[in-house]
Amino acid sequence: MEWKRKSEAESKQRVFDALKNNVNYRSGSVLGVPGTYLDPKVFSEEISFVREAPYLSTLVHNPNHIGCHTLGDSESYFEGTQVLEREVIRICSENIFKADPDTVDGYVAAGGTEANLQAIWIYRNYFLQEYKASLSEIAVVCTKDSHYSMQKAGNIFQIQCVLLPVEKETRVIDHAEAEAKLALLKKSGVKYIIVVSNMMTTMFGSIDKVEEYVELMTAFGFQFKIHVDAAYGGFYAPIVDEKNTINFTHPMVNSFTMDAHKLLQAPYGTGIFLIRKDWMKYAHTDAASYVVGADCTLSGSRSGANAIAIWLIFAAYGRHEWYEKCMTLERRTSWLAKELDTRGIRYFRAPLSNIVAIHANQIPVGLASGYGLVPDDHHQPSWFKIVVMDHVSIEKLEVFLEELDAIIVHK
Ligand SMILES: Cc1ncc(COP(=O)(O)O)c(C=O)c1O
Repeated sequence: MEWKRKSEAESKQRVFDALKNNVNYRSGSVLGVPGTYLDPKVFSEEISFVREAPYLSTLVHNPNHIGCHTLGDSESYFEGTQVLEREVIRICSENIFKADPDTVDGYVAAGGTEANLQAIWIYRNYFLQEYKASLSEIAVVCTKDSHYSMQKAGNIFQIQCVLLPVEKETRVIDHAEAEAKLALLKKSGVKYIIVVSNMMTTMFGSIDKVEEYVELMTAFGFQFKIHVDAAYGGFYAPIVDEKNTINFTHPMVNSFTMDAHKLLQAPYGTGIFLIRKDWMKYAHTDAASYVVGADCTLSGSRSGANAIAIWLIFAAYGRHEWYEKCMTLERRTSWLAKELDTRGIRYFRAPLSNIVAIHANQIPVGLASGYGLVPDDHHQPSWFKIVVMDHVSIEKLEVFLEELDAIIVHK
C-alpha cells in the first residue's frame, strides 16, 4: 500500500466520514453495547475546536476497536474507523516492511510491551499446540540490550528468558559466549526458541543481525521463530537505511513490534503489532463469544482514536516527508557525534542512529542528570544516552556542549 501525503482537508474528511460509518451513540438506538461517548461534562463535543479536530472528535466518539480487524469478521459498530486502522497496518507492513499486499495481520496495541508480549504469547502457544512442547522446553532468546518486556513476557507466560551477552564497545552478540549459553540451554532440555531480534535497542540504538540468530539456532538444532522488536527503530531504521533487509521479504522474520508513540510522536497507547497471516489464531480466545470476530489480542477493549492518531500522522507526512524528518534527526546526531569526537569524548553510536550513548566516565553525573541524559542503570551507570528526538535541537545540544567544555577546561 502506498504511503502518500494527504491535504489537511482530505484527511479530515476521511476521518469524519469514517466516524459517520461507526455507530452514533447519540442518534442511533444501540442499547446493548457496554460503551458510549466520553463523559459530556468533561469532554464536551460542543467546543468548536473539538468538533473541528478529527483526532479529538474520534476520542469523544470513543470507538472501541476490540479485536483484530485485518482478520475479516469484526464488530460492525465501528467499521468506519476500523477501515483506517487496517490502512495503518498495511502502510507499516507493506510500505515500511515490504510485505506483499494483504499478507500481514496486526493491530494497534497499548505499546511496545504489549506487542512484544503478543508475539511471545503466539509463538509459545504455537510450540505448545503444534509440537506438544512443555513450558520448560520453550525459551525466549534475545540480547542483554533487549528491552525488559521480554523478561516480563517470560514471567507472564511461564517460560525462561535467556539474554545473550554483547560486546561492550560494539553491542553485537558475543558469539563465543552466546554459543556457550545456548549449549547449556540445549543441555537443559530446551528445544523451542522464540528469538526476539532488536531493530534499535532502547539504550544504544543497535540493530541485531537476524542472520546471526538463524546461524546460532540452526547450529544448535533448535526449532525457532523470529520476532523483531522495532518498537524504537521501526519508524526510523528502515526509512533512513535504504539497505535495510530486516523486513517481511526476509523468510525467517515472522512478526514486528513498532511504537508510534516514540519517534512518530503519536499519543501514548499506539504500539503496533504485525505478524504474517495465519498466525494470530494461536492467540485466539474461544471464550470471547460475545465479540464479533472473537478476540486474538492481549488488549481487549482499546480506543479506536489511537489508530486514527497514527493514520493522521501518516497522512500529514507521506513517506517522503517522513524520510526528510528522519534525516534531519540523523544529521543532527551526526553533528553531535562529530562534536564529541573533536573533544575526545568516547561514545557508542550505531550507523545512522539517532541515539548516542556516552561512556559514563566521560561526563560528570551532575551534568548528565542536569540535561536529562538517561543512564543504563540509575544505581551504577556505565552509559548516559542522548536521544535526538524532534525537540533536541542543535541549539540545545550546543548549550550542553558549552557546559561540558567549561568543565573540561576547568579540569
Ligand atoms: C526497544 C524497545 N522495545 C520495547 C519497548 C517498550 O515499549 P512501551 O514502553 O511502549 O511498552 C521499548 C520502550 O522503550 C523499547 O525501546
